[in-house]
Amino acid sequence: MSDLDSLVTSASAEFGAAMTPADLENAKARFLGKAGRVTDLLKSLGALSVEEKKARGAEINATKQRIEAALHLRRQALADAELDALLKAEALDVTLPGRHRGIGGLHPVSRAMERIEAIFGSMGFDIADGPEIETDWYSFTALNNPENHPARSMQDTFYVDMKDAEGRWLNLRPHTSPMQVRYARAHAAKYAGMGAMPEIRVIAPGRTYRVDSDATHSPMFHQCEGLWIGENVSFKDLKSVFTDFCRRYYESDDLELRFRPSFFPFTEPSAEIDIAFASGPLKGQWLEIAGAGQVHPNVIRNFGLDPERHIGFAFGMGPDRLAMLRYGVNDLRLFFEGDLRFLSQFK
Ligand code: DAH
Repeated sequence: MSDLDSLVTSASAEFGAAMTPADLENAKARFLGKAGRVTDLLKSLGALSVEEKKARGAEINATKQRIEAALHLRRQALADAELDALLKAEALDVTLPGRHRGIGGLHPVSRAMERIEAIFGSMGFDIADGPEIETDWYSFTALNNPENHPARSMQDTFYVDMKDAEGRWLNLRPHTSPMQVRYARAHAAKYAGMGAMPEIRVIAPGRTYRVDSDATHSPMFHQCEGLWIGENVSFKDLKSVFTDFCRRYYESDDLELRFRPSFFPFTEPSAEIDIAFASGPLKGQWLEIAGAGQVHPNVIRNFGLDPERHIGFAFGMGPDRLAMLRYGVNDLRLFFEGDLRFLSQFK
């Protein structure tokens, strides 16, 4: 092998041994750089005759070109390897299952609320919303609760560390009944001095709070208040409206309602409404679902209306309870624990 051939061979070997572009540039310098071996050869031409220079110069140039070609090949190979490594590192495993966005659903209590609103809406009831932090007056006094009523105690009602205009502690409303008063007062004020006033027909669904926790009570729960006040709205209307509502809510005529005499300070007479299904797992059991009655004259007065002229009924029911009966859930707390294994059954 000529000295030039072996130079090409060793250059190719060193280029081949370079594993990074930086190594390769160093190897290149050893052959093609200012002090490299090819440059040394070219410098040695000076000592030769013109004829020899021509021949030897052409050989050295050809050698240089072969070395440059080897260098380019190796450069390309290193660049290809780098790209391959990059592609491998960023490779996507298309066989991995995707990350799904779960298909959500309405909470069963929200469903119950929506159904209640739709059914009463179709009967001409307005739907009202109001504060969950209430004053003592709206939660109790306006509803004819005596000063010493146990519902006002700290054992029953959550109080907020803040007072109302009369210096009484604010409370987390223990029922939606304050909405009767808020809505009726706004309605009465709106039509004051106009002679005639349209009937009040409203439901007020929302969150309520009590110091209570067991399988059928949660400290936060839901109620839906109902109020119908006119000049001739009687207990008979309460019975027909509520019976109609229950049949539509449970999509069945196969149920019975019982209006059991009871006591609430804000109604007279008062009743507890029980329901019994003629079929299904709860067949034949009386289950309490609401309190109701004819609105007490003192409460009508607090509405800003004349109890000699305006009469009607009110009710308060538990949408949580309605949902429990509808879906056969036996522990109310399941609704509020946020456990997807439970909730996803209602999708
Ligand atoms: N507010 C009562 C409660 O929380 C339920 C109730 C009873 C509401 C009778 C009413 C009613 O409007 O007339 O237990």
